[in-house]
Amino acid sequence: MVLPHSTALSLLLPLSAAQNFSAWSPPGPGDVRSPCPGLSSLTSHGFISHNGKILTIPILINALNDGMNVGADFATVIGGAGLLSAPANLPSTSFDLGNLNEHNFPIEHDASLNRADNYENNGENHSFNRTIFKSALAYYDGMNATSIPVAAEAKYNRVITEGKRGPKFIYTPQQFILSYEETAIYISVMGDLIYGAAPVEYVHVSFDGSCYQVRLPYVEGWRPPTKQTNLLTLGDMVFSRNAANGEVIPEGLEFTTNTLKLAFGGYDPIIGLLVHVL
Ligand code: HEM
Ligand SMILES: *[C@@H]1O[C@H](CO)[C@@H](O)[C@H](O)[C@H]1NC(C)=O
Ligand SMILES: *[C@@H]1O[C@H](CO)[C@@H](O)[C@H](O)[C@H]1NC(C)=O
Ligand SMILES: *[C@@H]1O[C@H](CO)[C@@H](O)[C@H](O)[C@H]1NC(C)=O
Ligand SMILES: *[C@@H]1O[C@H](CO)[C@@H](O)[C@H](O)[C@H]1NC(C)=O
Repeated sequence: MVLPHSTALSLLLPLSAAQNFSAWSPPGPGDVRSPCPGLSSLTSHGFISHNGKILTIPILINALNDGMNVGADFATVIGGAGLLSAPANLPSTSFDLGNLNEHNFPIEHDASLNRADNYENNGENHSFNRTIFKSALAYYDGMNATSIPVAAEAKYNRVITEGKRGPKFIYTPQQFILSYEETAIYISVMGDLIYGAAPVEYVHVSFDGSCYQVRLPYVEGWRPPTKQTNLLTLGDMVFSRNAANGEVIPEGLEFTTNTLKLAFGGYDPIIGLLVHVL
């Protein structure tokens, strides 16, 4: 007998007691969280072991599928970047959320939408910064929902603002793609795949606060989207629309599925190598 693929199976089974959108609890002593609001909220809702530790690719595939209808292709590629962050001599098969804190390797980067940059903040990488978040959210003043062009403006403004600080601001082609992906994924998962129209209230709940506080806006009415967010949809949003906001595309960067996979996987999308920018 051919067993159904695990992601298909999880659509058929009820959520386990631990996976409960209504249940949320903050990390306790010894529990870890990451600068990623998506993974931190999935963990505090029980879609990932509450301690935030020993995340494997299969665990991520199920958590992203069950919690947000995000595809196994994306979970596998970005999960690979997560594995690179594990402090092991040998290639690791799991990582802890805390490993993702490492600055510029392979994911955490400057110009975040809600945290100060590493060198601005003495490496304090979890602190929510209200001034910064307000500057990003101000782009939605007078609007009830996000949109692709406005989300892209808000994101690019963070790059312009932090870029003025000079040489300690790092923004490589890999981070160009990754940061657009992060914008694309929040407006896809909280909104939709075509217009990126997410209620601004949902963005607040899932983003407004440190990684210890963020949650999925379930009580506000959000439900996992019926259409799957995956590499194709994210690539489409990043390449054809999100990035079309006047920001200069890094020289030599071509927009292909391969460059997307390289950047999400932690590699430089132009040279294809693992680079640790200090
Ligand atoms: C295996 C899956 C994932 C991994 C390993 C991962 C990792 C990360 C990391 C390390 C960051 C920090 C980047 C920074 O410095 O700003 C980040 C940011 C982000 N992630 Fe994830 N992520 C994953 C999945 C998701 C999912 C499913 C969502 C869905 C909402 C998401 C949404 C975001 C957003 C919106 C940001 C930007 C945060 C900011 O601007 O500070 N991520 N992710
Ligand atoms: C989900 O969590 C809520 C809040 O803790 C609880 O009231 C409810 O019974 C839980 N549901 C299931 C199916 O476990
Ligand atoms: C990130 O913050 C945590 C908690 O404050 C700290 O233990 C860790 O060293 C920081 N990581 C980096 C790379 O600064
Ligand atoms: C928050 O960000 C603003 C603007 O970059 C900065 O001036 C301020 O010092 C930051 N606050 C903290 C607590 O890091
Ligand atoms: C936003 O939503 C509120 C409540 O549903 C409504 O009264 C208002 O007109 C909406 N504003 C815009 C700009 O759509």
